[in-house]
Amino acid sequence: MSFKTLAFFCCLALCAGFTLAQESKQSSEGLTGTWYCQFESPVGLQTYHFHIAIDGAGDATVNAEVKARDEVRKVEFVDVKVGEDAISFVEVRQFGEREFRIEYSGKLNGKELAVTRSFGERGGQDALATRDLPQSPPQESLQPVVEVKIDRIIKDAFKDAFLIGMAGDLPSRYSDVELKLAAEHFAAITPENCMKPERVHPAEDRWNFESSDALVEWAQMHKMTIHGHTLVWHAQTPNWFFEGGDSETIKQRMKQHIETLAGRYKGQLQSWDVVNEAISDGGNAETAKTENLRNSNWLQALGPEFLTLAFKYAREADPDAVLYYNDYNIESGPKHASSMVLLKRLLDEGAPIDGVGIQGHWRSGRVPFDDIEKAIADYASLGLKVSITELDVTIRGESGGQFGRRQSRSNTPASLDDLNAQAEDYAKLFSIFKKHEDAIERVTFWGLSDRRTWRWGQHPLLFDANNNPKPAYASIVALTRGDEAESATNQPKKVEIEDGGQGPYSAIVTESPTLSGMTIYRPEDLNAFGTEQRLPVLLWGNGACANTTEEHKNFLNEIASHGYIVLGIGLLDQLQQRDESSRQRTNSSQLIAALDWIIAQDANDNSIYFEKIDTTKVAAMGMSCGGLQAIEISDDPRITTTVVCNSGVLPSRSPMASMPDLTKDDLKKFHGPVLYIMGGPSDIAYNNAMDDFSRVDHVPIVMANLDVGHGGTYRRPHGGKYSPVALAWLDWQLKGKQDAAKTFLGENSQLANDYEWKIETKNIHQ
Ligand code: XIL
Repeated sequence: MSFKTLAFFCCLALCAGFTLAQESKQSSEGLTGTWYCQFESPVGLQTYHFHIAIDGAGDATVNAEVKARDEVRKVEFVDVKVGEDAISFVEVRQFGEREFRIEYSGKLNGKELAVTRSFGERGGQDALATRDLPQSPPQESLQPVVEVKIDRIIKDAFKDAFLIGMAGDLPSRYSDVELKLAAEHFAAITPENCMKPERVHPAEDRWNFESSDALVEWAQMHKMTIHGHTLVWHAQTPNWFFEGGDSETIKQRMKQHIETLAGRYKGQLQSWDVVNEAISDGGNAETAKTENLRNSNWLQALGPEFLTLAFKYAREADPDAVLYYNDYNIESGPKHASSMVLLKRLLDEGAPIDGVGIQGHWRSGRVPFDDIEKAIADYASLGLKVSITELDVTIRGESGGQFGRRQSRSNTPASLDDLNAQAEDYAKLFSIFKKHEDAIERVTFWGLSDRRTWRWGQHPLLFDANNNPKPAYASIVALTRGDEAESATNQPKKVEIEDGGQGPYSAIVTESPTLSGMTIYRPEDLNAFGTEQRLPVLLWGNGACANTTEEHKNFLNEIASHGYIVLGIGLLDQLQQRDESSRQRTNSSQLIAALDWIIAQDANDNSIYFEKIDTTKVAAMGMSCGGLQAIEISDDPRITTTVVCNSGVLPSRSPMASMPDLTKDDLKKFHGPVLYIMGGPSDIAYNNAMDDFSRVDHVPIVMANLDVGHGGTYRRPHGGKYSPVALAWLDWQLKGKQDAAKTFLGENSQLANDYEWKIETKNIHQ
């Protein structure tokens, strides 16, 4: 709420600065009648149709029909106060056991009524009410920012690794579309609020199982596992637990709470968050050596033993449930160290704890990947299971709500760049989770969609506010490709470029239903390949890290026609004509996933690639931004050589979120020979590349410049003059053709004799 509105509201409500209704009868007539007004809300646009009536005695009544989505609700307002040109009234709403007061105030402003509504601490919203229904009520667009095609369901994609879950108090107040979405994509559910103490057990002698029973029934109907949340917590826990009792009484209350709740769903819930958020925030080197427990009512009443007690009671109540300690920020810094101290103590004391929940409320661009990976390993080393229990990765800044330019919680659509950066973060997270799948039991998103999230306005989840999948969804499932065989009977679309190229093996461009998001260039007839002659592998990233190989298709096709398989990042349907989806952000991890995939194909006797691939000969290659993707994966031991085209590591970190975030240190990732193919001094990456070249002293490196600028020659027929140079390098490095080395080596090399090229070599000892 702005200061002005706040001041206005306070004046109205607190200073009681109203002229008495009777006195203002005449002037307040301007307020009577009907008004239309709209508010943005997490559940969509709400249209209010207010009716204000002021009787002869000056008493006012206000009611309204409120339309949100397809529902109309009638509201009678209370505490109506009317002044000369101002009015205030209150809506009382019941959510579960709690009553909320939503306060409205309106002030006449010409033909309009300026309305503010406020929800106590939650702040307020302003809107202008008019006499007529707005001509064209602001329509929420149902269109996604970018059309995302998904070809596998996340819960299936990870079914052999871990459960994929979501949080929500389903099914009440969720639409049919939302319920269908939840059941289709998620294998597990966590009640977001309905099993918390304040909801389920508002008073010592009062239990409220309506919502939690409904959730359990709904989840069972949809064969979803249920994770209970949460038994012992400092928040959302009513005070009665702690009031008027000694520590023994409070202990008994805790016991009785756990017995009743966990006991009620015994055998029906897979797991429970037994204790939530017991460790203090922040911390320092000193607290890192201790448990640094939060000074909660539980700690005050029962001391540090409260955790062990809670776990014991939970085990007794539901012996088969997997019991978790759950907390946020425990992956990093002193809080992580404290969590290890605490968990070790609990295990030593014989607390029946089975797992640790890392909540996972992170921000795009600031996800502590290394900490997360280490924390998972640390917890697993204690013999505990790990779950990511409340995952969301918020978008902030310009297109991401709360702290963005608009400083409001209005649901501005996220920008494509932000969505792509988020997708990249999610992909990195899931590649870590997958790597540690033996330790991880479940990954649960905290909400269903960007509408059903406590971080509303910050676009944190996999579906947008209109239930469309976001780039993050596609980037996560893309990681799981590779286990299925590419069979001959299931051949997808093929495209022919430049009559199949000039090489001895006519090439085609294709894709695989088992390798999403990648384009494959390869000889059409694979019969020529087998144990005698195998296809080396080329992994390719595009200029601008684009999601299509369109700019490089002549070049890549030409290479394939000489007996290579190229796995290029990009959508095949963007090869000839590009639309928005060609701008979706890509990630170097796709190259690694593609390598995993082709290695699996080579080993799978149902695959058309069975024993036709030389999986020991792999080039990481890419142009411009894609060149950085190639550098980024160069530390993978399976990579034989790196080819960087029109690219080089920037002198300082790139401000563009869409670029791999490399520093010159990453050049150490090279462990095989490296070729740079550049466009001469007019190439914007020239200085960066030359600087890379000067720094690399640990592997053979060749710098070849053709004065064509940053764009290279990829689009020219058969990829232009870059093609024979790239092929000579690949033939030399991946096919062991010593003849091809003559293109590069010695004073009389082919390129040294070619006045158009400038060549330099380093660290090559013959
Ligand atoms: C949040 C819910 O999402 C909100 O709807 C509610 O108003 C407050 O609690 N850590 C937890 C969750 O363990 O229970 C919290 O859920 C988010 C932080």
